[in-house]
Amino acid sequence: MTHLPPGAVLPSVDVVGRFPELARTLPDEAVVFADPKVLRSHPRVAKALRGRVVHRVPAGEESKTLEAVERFATKLVHVSRGATFVALGGGTVGDVVAVLAHLHRRGVRLVQVPSTLLAAVDSSIGGKGAVNVGPVKNALGVFHGAAETWLCDELFGTLTEAQRREGRLEAWKMVVTLDAATARRWLRRPPADEVLLREARDLKEAVVRTDPYEQKGVRVVLNFGHTFGHVFESLSGYRLRHGEAVGLGMLCALDLGVRLGVTAPSVAASIEAGLPMPRGARVTIATLLRGASTSTVGGLLAADKKGAPGQVRMVLLEELGRWRLVDVPAREWQACVKGPWRRA
Ligand SMILES: NC(=O)c1ccc[n+]([C@@H]2O[C@H](COP(=O)([O-])OP(=O)(O)OC[C@H]3O[C@@H](n4cnc5c(N)ncnc54)[C@H](O)[C@@H]3O)[C@@H](O)[C@H]2O)c1
Ligand SMILES: [Zn+2]
Repeated sequence: MTHLPPGAVLPSVDVVGRFPELARTLPDEAVVFADPKVLRSHPRVAKALRGRVVHRVPAGEESKTLEAVERFATKLVHVSRGATFVALGGGTVGDVVAVLAHLHRRGVRLVQVPSTLLAAVDSSIGGKGAVNVGPVKNALGVFHGAAETWLCDELFGTLTEAQRREGRLEAWKMVVTLDAATARRWLRRPPADEVLLREARDLKEAVVRTDPYEQKGVRVVLNFGHTFGHVFESLSGYRLRHGEAVGLGMLCALDLGVRLGVTAPSVAASIEAGLPMPRGARVTIATLLRGASTSTVGGLLAADKKGAPGQVRMVLLEELGRWRLVDVPAREWQACVKGPWRRA
């Protein structure tokens, strides 16, 4: 398989260890891209990188632009095709560096070092990298898989509870849609973050393996909770964290599943009780919706593409571990938006 280019989307080799030890294994021609906050919060990590080329990529959507890619590319013109690019940070760094690694001399080897739980369970797997164009998120993107992913537990030690919760909710999204046995176990007893990370990573890896370049419509399952999640992110003016918005979106997907007879009420209720959401999730949904008209919501849903006009194509849950893509008629989601979701 040596004819595969660097960046082919294959299951990544996961290496577990402490960052300073793993950093010693890097080749001389490694270029590190790091979230400056991670370097500040982890002096040992910063020390382990002394003497190496380190570019700083601040977290946040402002870093996910073509201008940022070009700025880095200008600094990299002398770097050969044999180089290894290392993305040390959350999904922001991972997304931008995947694009850079794909374009630099038509593709170089990539190592992902996720520093948020969300990046560890989601964005560092599957090879997707993207930048935004104007207000359109991830408008330009590539598939460029990591050759290795380093899982360095110590990095997660500086995450806040809210940051951890985002990663946990994306992990729950995978487990409830893909693996009934694990979901039941998690519902009985919430897993420790190390367990959650490992199990959710394996599930996403398995989905990606079946459909590495998103041609069979299998990766769409990873959008569970995202249809209304994106609406809530937008209605909050992006103040709501993505993972939390996805959690609210999962509640909406469960409600619609029950309404359409796709999801059993008891399954929906047990998931709602088990999801690690902050208190008052339903109140948050109601508050956000009270500030918006149904047509505003419709516009946001339409911007999220998919489905015939008015209809919304979304992943619903048939059973724990079993999902289906369903065209939800406008009257159904509108009834929820006007009725029960607005009253909490
Ligand atoms: N490529 C994909 O498949 C995919 C999947 C999901 C999300 N994403 C993208 O990922 C991005 C979100 O990722 P994210 O939530 O990791 O966000 P992020 O990289 O923007 O980081 C979020 C915050 O956490 C901080 N941070 C990072 N590591 C830390 C640490 N160890 N300790 C303390 N703070 C730390 C950052 O500085 C930032 O303030 C979005 O741009 C999204 O589009 C991509
Ligand atoms: Zn997400």
